[in-house]
Amino acid sequence: MVSFGVRLLTVDGHPVAVLQRGSRPEFNRQNARLEILAVDEAGSAAFLSALRRLMLERSVLRGQVLSFSGNQYNMGAAGADFLPRPEVPVEDVILPPGVLDEILRQVVGIGSHRRALRASGQHLKRGILLYGPPGTGKTLTVRHLLSATPGVTAVVLAGNSIVFVTQAAELARAMQPAIVVLEDVDLIAEDRSLTQGPQPLLFAMLDALDGLEGDADVAFVLTTNRVDVLERALADRPGRVDLAVEIPLPDAAARRRLFELYAGDLPLSSEAIRVAAARADGATGAFAKELMRRTVLLAAEAGRPPRDEDLAEALDALVSARGALTRRLLGASPGPPPVPPSRTSTVRASVMMHTEEGHALDRARQ
Ligand SMILES: Nc1ncnc2c1ncn2[C@@H]1O[C@H](COP(=O)(O)OP(=O)(O)O)[C@@H](O)[C@H]1O
Ligand SMILES: [Mg+2]
Repeated sequence: MVSFGVRLLTVDGHPVAVLQRGSRPEFNRQNARLEILAVDEAGSAAFLSALRRLMLERSVLRGQVLSFSGNQYNMGAAGADFLPRPEVPVEDVILPPGVLDEILRQVVGIGSHRRALRASGQHLKRGILLYGPPGTGKTLTVRHLLSATPGVTAVVLAGNSIVFVTQAAELARAMQPAIVVLEDVDLIAEDRSLTQGPQPLLFAMLDALDGLEGDADVAFVLTTNRVDVLERALADRPGRVDLAVEIPLPDAAARRRLFELYAGDLPLSSEAIRVAAARADGATGAFAKELMRRTVLLAAEAGRPPRDEDLAEALDALVSARGALTRRLLGASPGPPPVPPSRTSTVRASVMMHTEEGHALDRARQ
C-alpha cells in the first residue's frame, strides 16, 4: 500500500501526475488524498471518472454484509462493520405455506429478472415490511434472505444505527444490487430521545426509501413487532413499501414443526414433542428454541441425557405463573404486551439473550 507517492500515468492519451497520500488520523488527516496534475482538463476529468468507476467496482464493501456504527466520541465518523453472511437454510425457517416464497420473489426474484423488468420500464426498487409478534422469525427470515443472496451487498441497520439510513441508501445505490435491512423500525418511531419534533427519524427513513430512483436494484426490508405505530406514517406516504407480509404466531401444525426442529437429535419421543407443542398454545419459534435449551439444561443438571420428563418439566416452568414475564418475552402469549413502554429497551435486551441465533443482526443493536 502506498502511503505517500507520485504516479505518472497516461489516461486516454492524456499525461497525468497523481500525488497520493494515505490517511494519518494521528496527524489529523482522516482521509486518504489524491492530488491530480494534468496538462489539460480533459486529462483530469478522464482520470477522475475512471477512478470513481473503479472505486465502486472494486470497493471492499461490495458484496459484503455491513452494518454502520457511529463512533461514540465522534458522531460524524460512521464506520462500516463487516458482518459474516448468515447461513440459514430454507428448512430452518418455519412459516405458513407460501409466505417465504412471496418474500423471496419480491426481494430475490425481482433482482434476478432485472433485465426484463428494466426493458419494459418497470421499477426495481422495492420495499418489504415484515411484521408480527416478537420471536416469530422476522429476523430469521431476513437472515435467510441474506444467505439466499450471496454477492449482493447488504447493509443491516438496527435500533439507533437507523440514523444512518440515508448513508445506507446511498451506499446501496452505488453498490447495487443491494439490500438495506432496517430492523425493528417501530423503535425509531417510538423512541422520543431520537426525535425532536414529530418523529423526524422515521420520516428521514421514509424519505430515504423514496429518495432512490425507481430503477435502482435495491430492496429495503423493514421489520417491526408493532405495525400499528407505523401504519399511519406508511399509509400517508404510499409507494415506500410495496409488500407487507405478516409473520404470524405459528399455528398448531407449525408449532409442532418448530418443536421438532429445535428438538433436533435430542432423544425425545415424538409423542412427548407432540404433547408439548399442543400444550404451548401461542408459543413462538423463539419459545420452542428456549424450551429445548432448558430441557437439555435440566438433563445436564441431573447428569444424564435428556428425557421426555425434562421436556415436560421445562415446559411447566415456562408456562407457570412464575414464568409469565419470560413467556411474554419469548412471545408465548398473544395479546397486548403488558410491559410499560418505558421498559421496552430492557425487554429487548432480555429477548436478545434468548435469540443468540439472531446475533449477527442483533449485534448492531448493542
Ligand atoms: N418461524 C420460525 N422458524 C424457525 N425458527 C424460529 C422461527 N421464529 C423464531 N425462531 C427462532 O427464534 C429465534 C428468534 O426469532 P427472531 O427471528 O429473532 O424473531 P423476531 O425477529 O420475529 O422477533 C430465531 O433465531 C430462531 O432460532
Ligand atoms: Mg427481530
